[in-house]
Amino acid sequence: MILSDQQIGILGGGQLGTFLTIAAKQMGYRVSVWDPDIGAPAHAWADHSIQTHFDHPESLKQFIHENAVITYEWENIPVSLVASIEAEKPVRPGSTVLNHLQNRIQEKGFLTAGGFPVTPYLPVLDPNNLVAAAESLGFPLICKTATAGYDGIGQWRLSNVGAVTDLRRKLKSRKRGWILEKVANFSKELSVIVARGADGEVVTYPVSENIHENGILRLSKIPAEISADLSERIARLGKAVITALEGVGLFCIELFLLENDALLINEIAPRPHNSGHATMDSCDTSQYAQQVRTLCNLPLMTPRILSPAVMLNVLGDEIKALRNESILKALLSLPGIHLYDYRKQEIKDRRKMGHITLTGSDPIQLSAQALQVQDLLKKS
Ligand SMILES: Nc1ncnc2c1ncn2[C@@H]1O[C@H](COP(=O)(O)OP(=O)(O)OP(=O)(O)O)[C@@H](O)[C@H]1O
Ligand SMILES: [Mg+2]
Repeated sequence: MILSDQQIGILGGGQLGTFLTIAAKQMGYRVSVWDPDIGAPAHAWADHSIQTHFDHPESLKQFIHENAVITYEWENIPVSLVASIEAEKPVRPGSTVLNHLQNRIQEKGFLTAGGFPVTPYLPVLDPNNLVAAAESLGFPLICKTATAGYDGIGQWRLSNVGAVTDLRRKLKSRKRGWILEKVANFSKELSVIVARGADGEVVTYPVSENIHENGILRLSKIPAEISADLSERIARLGKAVITALEGVGLFCIELFLLENDALLINEIAPRPHNSGHATMDSCDTSQYAQQVRTLCNLPLMTPRILSPAVMLNVLGDEIKALRNESILKALLSLPGIHLYDYRKQEIKDRRKMGHITLTGSDPIQLSAQALQVQDLLKKS
Protein backbone atom coordinates (compact mmCIF):
# COMPACT_ATOMS: atom_id res chain seq x y z
CA MET A 1 0.00 0.00 0.00
CA ILE A 2 1.12 3.51 -0.69
CA LEU A 3 0.40 5.53 2.44
CA SER A 4 -0.24 9.23 2.79
CA ASP A 5 3.35 10.13 3.66
CA GLN A 6 4.07 9.58 -0.03
CA GLN A 7 3.54 11.67 -3.15
CA ILE A 8 1.39 10.97 -6.22
CA GLY A 9 2.50 12.27 -9.64
CA ILE A 10 0.02 13.41 -12.29
CA LEU A 11 0.91 14.04 -15.94
CA GLY A 12 -1.43 16.77 -17.16
CA GLY A 13 -2.95 19.56 -15.13
CA GLY A 14 -6.46 20.23 -16.46
CA GLN A 15 -9.68 20.01 -14.47
CA LEU A 16 -9.47 16.22 -14.15
CA GLY A 17 -5.99 16.59 -12.68
CA THR A 18 -7.27 19.34 -10.38
CA PHE A 19 -10.05 17.20 -8.91
CA LEU A 20 -7.70 14.23 -8.52
CA THR A 21 -5.20 16.50 -6.75
CA ILE A 22 -7.88 17.72 -4.35
CA ALA A 23 -9.11 14.17 -3.62
CA ALA A 24 -5.56 12.93 -2.99
CA LYS A 25 -4.66 15.87 -0.75
CA GLN A 26 -7.87 15.38 1.21
CA MET A 27 -6.56 11.91 2.06
CA GLY A 28 -3.20 13.36 3.12
CA TYR A 29 -1.10 12.60 0.03
CA ARG A 30 1.21 15.15 -1.50
CA VAL A 31 0.75 15.69 -5.22
CA SER A 32 3.08 16.67 -8.00
CA VAL A 33 1.57 17.95 -11.27
CA TRP A 34 3.59 18.01 -14.49
CA ASP A 35 2.10 20.06 -17.31
CA PRO A 36 4.06 22.23 -19.78
CA ASP A 37 1.11 24.65 -19.90
CA ILE A 38 1.87 27.16 -17.16
CA GLY A 39 -1.81 28.17 -17.13
CA ALA A 40 -3.03 24.60 -16.42
CA PRO A 41 -5.37 24.90 -13.42
CA ALA A 42 -4.01 21.97 -11.37
CA HIS A 43 -0.65 23.77 -10.89
CA ALA A 44 -2.32 26.05 -8.36
CA TRP A 45 -3.48 23.09 -6.22
CA ALA A 46 -0.39 20.88 -6.41
CA ASP A 47 2.28 20.63 -3.70
CA HIS A 48 4.85 20.60 -6.46
CA SER A 49 4.29 21.77 -10.00
CA ILE A 50 6.56 21.11 -12.97
CA GLN A 51 6.09 23.26 -16.06
CA THR A 52 8.83 22.09 -18.41
CA HIS A 53 8.23 20.15 -21.62
CA PHE A 54 7.70 16.42 -21.27
CA ASP A 55 11.07 15.72 -22.91
CA HIS A 56 13.04 17.59 -20.22
CA PRO A 57 15.48 14.96 -18.79
CA GLU A 58 16.06 16.63 -15.40
CA SER A 59 12.34 17.04 -14.78
CA LEU A 60 11.78 13.40 -15.67
CA LYS A 61 14.44 12.29 -13.22
CA GLN A 62 12.99 14.39 -10.44
CA PHE A 63 9.40 13.37 -11.21
CA ILE A 64 10.31 9.68 -11.04
CA HIS A 65 12.33 10.19 -7.89
CA GLU A 66 9.77 12.16 -5.91
CA ASN A 67 6.60 10.16 -6.66
CA ALA A 68 5.58 6.74 -5.37
CA VAL A 69 3.03 6.23 -8.15
CA ILE A 70 2.16 8.10 -11.32
CA THR A 71 -0.95 8.59 -13.42
CA TYR A 72 -2.14 10.87 -16.22
CA GLU A 73 -5.34 12.82 -16.73
CA TRP A 74 -5.12 12.99 -20.50
CA GLU A 75 -4.55 10.12 -22.95
CA ASN A 76 -2.39 12.10 -25.33
CA ILE A 77 0.67 11.83 -23.07
CA PRO A 78 3.53 10.23 -25.06
CA VAL A 79 3.55 6.44 -24.55
CA SER A 80 7.37 6.57 -24.55
CA LEU A 81 7.29 8.92 -21.54
CA VAL A 82 4.97 6.58 -19.64
CA ALA A 83 7.15 3.60 -20.59
CA SER A 84 10.32 5.26 -19.28
CA ILE A 85 8.66 6.19 -15.99
CA GLU A 86 7.20 2.71 -15.67
CA ALA A 87 10.67 1.16 -15.80
CA GLU A 88 11.20 2.63 -12.31
CA LYS A 89 7.84 3.46 -10.72
CA PRO A 90 4.30 2.13 -11.21
CA VAL A 91 2.19 4.10 -13.69
CA ARG A 92 -1.56 3.43 -13.60
CA PRO A 93 -2.91 2.68 -16.18
CA GLY A 94 0.37 1.41 -17.67
CA SER A 95 1.93 2.11 -21.06
CA THR A 96 0.47 -0.98 -22.78
CA VAL A 97 -3.04 0.11 -21.88
CA LEU A 98 -2.32 3.70 -22.92
CA ASN A 99 -0.94 2.45 -26.23
CA HIS A 100 -4.17 0.51 -26.88
CA LEU A 101 -6.43 3.44 -26.04
CA GLN A 102 -4.50 6.39 -27.41
CA ASN A 103 -5.09 5.40 -30.99
CA ARG A 104 -8.63 4.72 -32.21
CA ILE A 105 -7.43 2.05 -34.67
CA GLN A 106 -5.72 0.09 -31.88
CA GLU A 107 -8.64 0.68 -29.53
CA LYS A 108 -11.23 -0.65 -31.97
CA GLY A 109 -8.88 -3.53 -32.86
CA PHE A 110 -8.58 -4.51 -29.19
CA LEU A 111 -12.36 -4.35 -28.69
CA THR A 112 -13.14 -6.33 -31.85
CA ALA A 113 -10.55 -9.00 -31.03
CA GLY A 114 -12.10 -9.37 -27.56
CA GLY A 115 -15.57 -9.83 -29.05
CA PHE A 116 -16.85 -6.52 -27.65
CA PRO A 117 -19.49 -4.71 -29.72
CA VAL A 118 -18.46 -1.64 -31.72
CA THR A 119 -20.01 0.21 -34.65
CA PRO A 120 -18.83 -1.09 -38.08
CA TYR A 121 -15.58 0.69 -38.94
CA LEU A 122 -12.52 0.58 -41.18
CA PRO A 123 -9.05 1.92 -40.49
CA VAL A 124 -7.77 4.37 -43.11
CA LEU A 125 -4.00 4.79 -43.27
CA ASP A 126 -3.91 6.48 -46.67
CA PRO A 127 -6.49 9.15 -47.66
CA ASN A 128 -6.52 7.60 -51.15
CA ASN A 129 -8.42 4.64 -49.67
CA LEU A 130 -11.11 6.83 -48.15
CA VAL A 131 -13.67 6.57 -50.96
CA ALA A 132 -13.43 2.77 -51.27
CA ALA A 133 -13.71 2.38 -47.49
CA ALA A 134 -16.75 4.71 -47.39
CA GLU A 135 -18.48 2.83 -50.19
CA SER A 136 -17.95 -0.51 -48.53
CA LEU A 137 -19.33 0.70 -45.16
CA GLY A 138 -22.26 2.72 -46.54
CA PHE A 139 -23.46 6.18 -45.40
CA PRO A 140 -23.87 8.06 -43.07
CA LEU A 141 -20.33 7.91 -41.70
CA ILE A 142 -17.98 9.72 -39.34
CA CYS A 143 -14.28 10.01 -40.08
CA LYS A 144 -12.12 10.52 -36.98
CA THR A 145 -8.40 11.11 -36.59
CA ALA A 146 -6.88 8.01 -35.01
CA THR A 147 -4.99 10.05 -32.44
CA ALA A 148 -5.24 13.33 -30.54
CA GLY A 149 -8.99 13.98 -31.06
CA TYR A 150 -11.17 15.28 -28.22
CA ASP A 151 -14.51 17.05 -27.76
CA GLY A 152 -15.45 16.15 -31.33
CA ILE A 153 -12.32 17.86 -32.72
CA GLY A 154 -10.74 15.98 -35.66
CA GLN A 155 -14.07 14.49 -36.77
CA TRP A 156 -16.01 14.86 -40.01
CA ARG A 157 -19.57 13.71 -40.67
CA LEU A 158 -20.00 12.35 -44.19
CA SER A 159 -23.32 11.73 -45.87
CA ASN A 160 -22.31 11.15 -49.51
CA VAL A 161 -19.39 10.40 -51.83
CA GLY A 162 -18.98 14.10 -52.65
CA ALA A 163 -18.23 14.86 -49.01
CA VAL A 164 -15.70 12.01 -48.91
CA THR A 165 -13.79 13.27 -51.95
CA ASP A 166 -13.69 16.77 -50.43
CA LEU A 167 -12.32 15.33 -47.22
CA ARG A 168 -9.78 13.20 -49.10
CA ARG A 169 -8.40 16.37 -50.64
CA LYS A 170 -8.17 18.01 -47.21
CA LEU A 171 -6.44 15.04 -45.59
CA LYS A 172 -4.03 14.34 -48.42
CA SER A 173 -1.21 16.48 -47.13
CA ARG A 174 -1.39 14.96 -43.66
CA LYS A 175 0.38 11.84 -42.55
CA ARG A 176 -1.55 10.16 -39.77
CA GLY A 177 -4.23 7.52 -39.43
CA TRP A 178 -8.00 7.84 -39.43
CA ILE A 179 -10.97 5.59 -38.88
CA LEU A 180 -14.23 5.62 -40.74
CA GLU A 181 -17.18 4.66 -38.57
CA LYS A 182 -20.82 4.03 -39.38
CA VAL A 183 -23.02 6.58 -37.61
CA ALA A 184 -24.82 4.67 -34.86
CA ASN A 185 -28.52 5.42 -34.73
CA PHE A 186 -28.57 5.48 -30.95
CA SER A 187 -31.53 6.10 -28.66
CA LYS A 188 -29.28 7.17 -25.78
CA GLU A 189 -25.63 7.83 -25.07
CA LEU A 190 -24.50 6.22 -21.82
CA SER A 191 -21.25 5.90 -19.90
CA VAL A 192 -19.96 3.90 -17.00
CA ILE A 193 -16.96 4.59 -14.76
CA VAL A 194 -14.99 1.44 -13.93
CA ALA A 195 -12.22 1.22 -11.33
CA ARG A 196 -9.86 -1.75 -11.23
CA GLY A 197 -7.19 -2.39 -8.61
CA ALA A 198 -3.81 -4.06 -9.10
CA ASP A 199 -5.26 -7.21 -7.47
CA GLY A 200 -7.98 -7.41 -10.13
CA GLU A 201 -10.84 -6.15 -7.95
CA VAL A 202 -13.30 -4.18 -10.13
CA VAL A 203 -16.13 -1.81 -9.19
CA THR A 204 -18.46 0.22 -11.38
CA TYR A 205 -20.44 3.43 -10.86
CA PRO A 206 -24.13 3.85 -11.62
CA VAL A 207 -24.59 4.44 -15.37
CA SER A 208 -24.72 8.06 -16.63
CA GLU A 209 -26.85 9.29 -19.51
CA ASN A 210 -25.14 11.88 -21.67
CA ILE A 211 -26.32 14.52 -24.11
CA HIS A 212 -23.79 15.93 -26.59
CA GLU A 213 -24.09 19.09 -28.68
CA ASN A 214 -21.80 19.44 -31.70
CA GLY A 215 -19.64 16.56 -30.49
CA ILE A 216 -19.13 18.04 -27.02
CA LEU A 217 -20.74 16.88 -23.78
CA ARG A 218 -23.48 19.30 -22.69
CA LEU A 219 -25.32 17.48 -19.95
CA SER A 220 -24.99 14.27 -17.99
CA LYS A 221 -27.62 12.61 -15.82
CA ILE A 222 -26.93 10.08 -13.07
CA PRO A 223 -28.46 7.53 -12.79
CA ALA A 224 -29.44 7.02 -16.43
CA GLU A 225 -33.14 6.42 -17.06
CA ILE A 226 -32.74 2.78 -18.03
CA SER A 227 -33.97 -0.54 -16.65
CA ALA A 228 -32.19 -2.29 -13.79
CA ASP A 229 -31.47 -5.15 -16.20
CA LEU A 230 -29.71 -2.88 -18.65
CA SER A 231 -27.69 -1.21 -15.85
CA GLU A 232 -26.59 -4.64 -14.72
CA ARG A 233 -25.64 -5.59 -18.29
CA ILE A 234 -23.57 -2.40 -18.63
CA ALA A 235 -21.79 -3.03 -15.31
CA ARG A 236 -20.89 -6.56 -16.46
CA LEU A 237 -19.70 -5.30 -19.85
CA GLY A 238 -17.60 -2.55 -18.21
CA LYS A 239 -15.94 -5.01 -15.83
CA ALA A 240 -15.27 -7.47 -18.66
CA VAL A 241 -13.69 -4.83 -20.92
CA ILE A 242 -11.34 -3.40 -18.29
CA THR A 243 -10.41 -6.87 -17.07
CA ALA A 244 -9.61 -7.97 -20.66
CA LEU A 245 -7.49 -4.84 -20.99
CA GLU A 246 -5.71 -5.77 -17.72
CA GLY A 247 -6.18 -2.11 -16.86
CA VAL A 248 -5.29 -0.83 -13.40
CA GLY A 249 -6.71 2.56 -12.53
CA LEU A 250 -9.91 4.42 -13.28
CA PHE A 251 -11.62 4.26 -16.68
CA CYS A 252 -14.74 5.47 -18.41
CA ILE A 253 -16.51 3.50 -21.13
CA GLU A 254 -18.72 5.53 -23.49
CA LEU A 255 -21.61 3.58 -25.00
CA PHE A 256 -24.36 3.90 -27.59
CA LEU A 257 -27.70 2.29 -26.72
CA LEU A 258 -29.59 1.19 -29.82
CA GLU A 259 -33.38 0.91 -30.24
CA ASN A 260 -33.26 -2.87 -29.77
CA ASP A 261 -31.40 -2.41 -26.45
CA ALA A 262 -28.13 -3.58 -28.01
CA LEU A 263 -25.02 -1.73 -26.81
CA LEU A 264 -22.03 -0.50 -28.80
CA ILE A 265 -18.81 0.72 -27.19
CA ASN A 266 -17.86 4.15 -28.55
CA GLU A 267 -14.57 4.63 -26.73
CA ILE A 268 -12.68 4.03 -23.49
CA ALA A 269 -10.93 6.78 -21.53
CA PRO A 270 -8.03 5.59 -19.30
CA ARG A 271 -8.78 8.32 -16.75
CA PRO A 272 -11.65 10.03 -14.94
CA HIS A 273 -14.28 11.43 -17.27
CA ASN A 274 -16.38 14.54 -17.69
CA SER A 275 -19.54 12.43 -17.35
CA GLY A 276 -18.26 11.30 -13.93
CA HIS A 277 -18.02 14.81 -12.44
CA ALA A 278 -21.46 14.32 -10.89
CA THR A 279 -20.07 11.49 -8.72
CA MET A 280 -18.47 14.23 -6.57
CA ASP A 281 -21.86 15.40 -5.32
CA SER A 282 -24.15 12.44 -5.95
CA CYS A 283 -22.19 9.35 -4.84
CA ASP A 284 -20.61 8.28 -1.56
CA THR A 285 -17.21 8.19 -3.23
CA SER A 286 -16.21 10.33 -6.22
CA GLN A 287 -14.43 8.98 -9.31
CA TYR A 288 -11.37 10.91 -8.10
CA ALA A 289 -11.31 9.45 -4.57
CA GLN A 290 -11.74 6.01 -6.15
CA GLN A 291 -8.86 6.74 -8.52
CA VAL A 292 -6.65 7.48 -5.50
CA ARG A 293 -7.58 4.04 -4.15
CA THR A 294 -6.56 2.33 -7.41
CA LEU A 295 -3.29 4.27 -7.52
CA CYS A 296 -2.28 3.51 -3.94
CA ASN A 297 -3.39 -0.16 -3.73
CA LEU A 298 -6.11 0.74 -1.24
CA PRO A 299 -9.25 -1.42 -1.08
CA LEU A 300 -11.83 -0.19 -3.58
CA MET A 301 -15.28 0.96 -2.50
CA THR A 302 -18.44 -0.15 -4.25
CA PRO A 303 -19.98 3.23 -5.02
CA ARG A 304 -23.56 3.94 -3.98
CA ILE A 305 -25.66 6.77 -5.27
CA LEU A 306 -26.78 9.21 -2.57
CA SER A 307 -28.88 11.44 -4.80
CA PRO A 308 -29.84 11.64 -8.47
CA ALA A 309 -28.03 14.47 -10.21
CA VAL A 310 -27.74 16.42 -13.44
CA MET A 311 -24.37 17.87 -14.46
CA LEU A 312 -24.07 20.67 -17.02
CA ASN A 313 -20.83 21.75 -18.62
CA VAL A 314 -20.05 25.46 -18.61
CA LEU A 315 -18.53 26.18 -22.01
CA GLY A 316 -16.60 29.20 -23.27
CA ASP A 317 -18.18 32.55 -22.40
CA GLU A 318 -20.84 30.89 -20.24
CA ILE A 319 -18.32 30.99 -17.38
CA LYS A 320 -18.98 34.73 -17.16
CA ALA A 321 -22.36 33.85 -15.65
CA LEU A 322 -20.61 32.40 -12.59
CA ARG A 323 -18.55 35.57 -12.29
CA ASN A 324 -21.51 37.96 -12.52
CA GLU A 325 -23.13 39.00 -9.26
CA SER A 326 -26.80 38.92 -10.24
CA ILE A 327 -26.59 35.69 -12.29
CA LEU A 328 -24.54 34.05 -9.56
CA LYS A 329 -27.21 35.01 -7.03
CA ALA A 330 -29.93 33.47 -9.21
CA LEU A 331 -27.90 30.28 -9.70
CA LEU A 332 -27.17 29.94 -5.99
CA SER A 333 -30.86 30.31 -5.14
CA LEU A 334 -31.54 26.92 -6.81
CA PRO A 335 -31.67 24.07 -4.27
CA GLY A 336 -28.96 21.41 -4.53
CA ILE A 337 -26.69 23.41 -6.82
CA HIS A 338 -22.90 22.89 -6.84
CA LEU A 339 -20.76 25.31 -8.85
CA TYR A 340 -17.29 24.62 -10.23
CA ASP A 341 -15.14 27.25 -11.94
CA TYR A 342 -11.88 25.68 -13.17
CA ARG A 343 -10.13 29.05 -13.08
CA LYS A 344 -8.70 28.59 -16.58
CA GLN A 345 -6.84 31.74 -17.52
CA GLU A 346 -8.10 32.03 -21.07
CA ILE A 347 -11.73 31.78 -22.17
CA LYS A 348 -12.00 30.03 -25.54
CA ASP A 349 -15.05 29.18 -27.60
CA ARG A 350 -16.39 25.70 -26.62
CA ARG A 351 -13.66 25.27 -24.00
CA LYS A 352 -14.76 23.49 -20.81
CA MET A 353 -14.46 26.30 -18.25
CA GLY A 354 -16.47 24.85 -15.38
CA HIS A 355 -19.48 22.71 -14.56
CA ILE A 356 -22.62 22.82 -12.48
CA THR A 357 -24.17 19.85 -10.72
CA LEU A 358 -27.72 19.81 -9.44
CA THR A 359 -28.70 17.19 -6.88
CA GLY A 360 -32.24 16.43 -5.78
CA SER A 361 -34.60 13.52 -5.23
CA ASP A 362 -37.11 14.33 -7.97
CA PRO A 363 -35.77 13.75 -11.53
CA ILE A 364 -38.58 15.88 -13.05
CA GLN A 365 -37.67 18.83 -10.84
CA LEU A 366 -33.98 18.28 -11.65
CA SER A 367 -34.70 18.49 -15.38
CA ALA A 368 -36.68 21.71 -14.87
CA GLN A 369 -33.83 23.20 -12.84
CA ALA A 370 -31.32 22.16 -15.50
CA LEU A 371 -33.31 24.23 -18.02
CA GLN A 372 -33.25 27.19 -15.62
CA VAL A 373 -29.47 26.84 -15.33
CA GLN A 374 -29.12 26.72 -19.12
CA ASP A 375 -31.18 29.91 -19.42
CA LEU A 376 -29.02 31.64 -16.81
CA LEU A 377 -25.81 30.52 -18.56
CA LYS A 378 -27.10 32.06 -21.80
CA LYS A 379 -27.36 35.44 -20.03
CA SER A 380 -23.58 35.55 -19.60
N1 LIG B 1 -20.17 6.34 -34.67
C1 LIG B 1 -20.90 7.31 -34.13
N2 LIG B 1 -22.25 7.33 -34.31
C2 LIG B 1 -23.01 8.33 -33.78
N3 LIG B 1 -22.51 9.34 -33.07
C3 LIG B 1 -21.18 9.39 -32.86
C4 LIG B 1 -20.31 8.36 -33.37
N4 LIG B 1 -19.06 8.68 -33.01
C5 LIG B 1 -19.14 9.81 -32.30
N5 LIG B 1 -20.40 10.26 -32.21
C6 LIG B 1 -20.89 11.46 -31.48
O1 LIG B 1 -19.82 12.37 -31.28
C7 LIG B 1 -19.46 12.44 -29.89
C8 LIG B 1 -17.96 12.57 -29.73
O2 LIG B 1 -17.34 11.45 -30.32
P1 LIG B 1 -16.11 10.69 -29.62
O3 LIG B 1 -16.48 10.30 -28.26
O4 LIG B 1 -15.65 9.62 -30.54
O5 LIG B 1 -15.06 11.86 -29.71
P2 LIG B 1 -14.08 12.59 -28.76
O6 LIG B 1 -13.56 13.68 -29.60
O7 LIG B 1 -13.16 11.60 -28.18
O8 LIG B 1 -15.01 13.19 -27.68
P3 LIG B 1 -14.77 13.28 -26.09
O9 LIG B 1 -13.37 13.68 -25.90
O10 LIG B 1 -15.75 14.35 -25.70
O11 LIG B 1 -15.16 11.96 -25.56
C9 LIG B 1 -20.04 11.17 -29.29
O12 LIG B 1 -20.25 11.28 -27.92
C10 LIG B 1 -21.34 11.05 -30.10
O13 LIG B 1 -22.31 11.97 -29.65
MG1 LIG C 1 -16.04 10.52 -26.43
